[in-house]
Amino acid sequence: MRRPSALGALLAGLLGATLVAGPLTAPATAAPRVPDPTTSTLRQLAAHTGMRVGTAVDTSALANDATYRAAVGAEFDTVTPENVMKWEVVEPEQGRFDFTQADTLVAFARAHKQKVRGHTLVWHSQLPAWLTSRSWTAAELRPVLREHILTEVGHFRGRIWAWDVVNEAFNEDGSLRDTIWLQVLGPSYIADAFRWAHQADPKAILFYNDFNIEGVNPKSDAVFALLTQLRRQGVPVQAVGAQGHLDTQFPIPTGIVQNLRRFADAGMDSAITEADVRSVLPVDATESAAQSAGYSAMLQGCLLVRRCLSFTVWGFTDKYQWVPSVFAGEGSAALWDENFQPKPAYDQVRIDLALAPSGRPRA
Ligand code: G3I
Repeated sequence: MRRPSALGALLAGLLGATLVAGPLTAPATAAPRVPDPTTSTLRQLAAHTGMRVGTAVDTSALANDATYRAAVGAEFDTVTPENVMKWEVVEPEQGRFDFTQADTLVAFARAHKQKVRGHTLVWHSQLPAWLTSRSWTAAELRPVLREHILTEVGHFRGRIWAWDVVNEAFNEDGSLRDTIWLQVLGPSYIADAFRWAHQADPKAILFYNDFNIEGVNPKSDAVFALLTQLRRQGVPVQAVGAQGHLDTQFPIPTGIVQNLRRFADAGMDSAITEADVRSVLPVDATESAAQSAGYSAMLQGCLLVRRCLSFTVWGFTDKYQWVPSVFAGEGSAALWDENFQPKPAYDQVRIDLALAPSGRPRA
């Protein structure tokens, strides 16, 4: 065993724990054995908490960049396909399904003992042209949605830990977003989607997933109201995913713990599903500190709620991060920079994981 570093020794004092390098093994003594945060990976540090730690994966980087590939395998114990389980990739022509890229990621995850979060079945974005370029009646569109969900979830049956079944269905004011699904099918498309996903894989944990629902606000209130209502009606929705796309220009959401806890109290699991914290470039020391605080607030919120199952970052390196292509002039949102060098936020995450209480039940 390596000697604990100065930071490790400090944390050992705080925890009254034995710090070890490498994966957590069964505790030999009453004191919890926590991996040394200065030498261990995120998945090693998270193991004692029972909360999983994941990343969105860019499958083309996974195929072509060995440094990226090694980091995904070493640092995370869940993965989410950033794009390759979305409709335009999986069903590019009506009735023709292509799971090639997604299968590659699922195989990688299996080889690295990682769970897979499936993302995403029903969304208004990244839909194929054959679906968006014509008009539909409800009688035509409903079987199209049903077929898509049954085929995709059925293809991966038993290999997907959790599905983001419905993604981003709400506006900020808590009204339902005006999408092709709402326009043609009405609000019942949400219950239908969960029922079909459950039919195709009864063991997968089914999530509703959205952004700006980390804290308590009109949007998360509306999601909470809908999910509790659906569950009362017997619809198989089991969990809520708070995406967690923060920006250092804006305050950290308030009431993260309170929000996740109300879902837990209503019998639902939760997760932080797409964490990142962007800034206007170039980033200064204050923004870097604010980024650490943003990641930490979301991670600690999850760690404080027993039913929060996983903390997933939406890309772990700025080399392949989505923010600059959408928010002009912004970036630096990930835990590692474009040269795979960890930022202060990465150390903050490691410390939070090491200091978290041991023994939340593993999902
Ligand atoms: O794959 C095509 C490629 O064939 C083509 O040549 C190229 C030209 O533009 O586009 C490629 O597709 C891009 C795709 O990412 C894969 O790189 C799309 O244009 C681009 O729009 C797409 O962006 C993704 C975005 O969702 C789409 O809205 C981002 O990578 C992805 O990070 C982002 O993820 C979303 C979550 O799914 C839901 N929550 C918000 C989050 C961030 O926007």
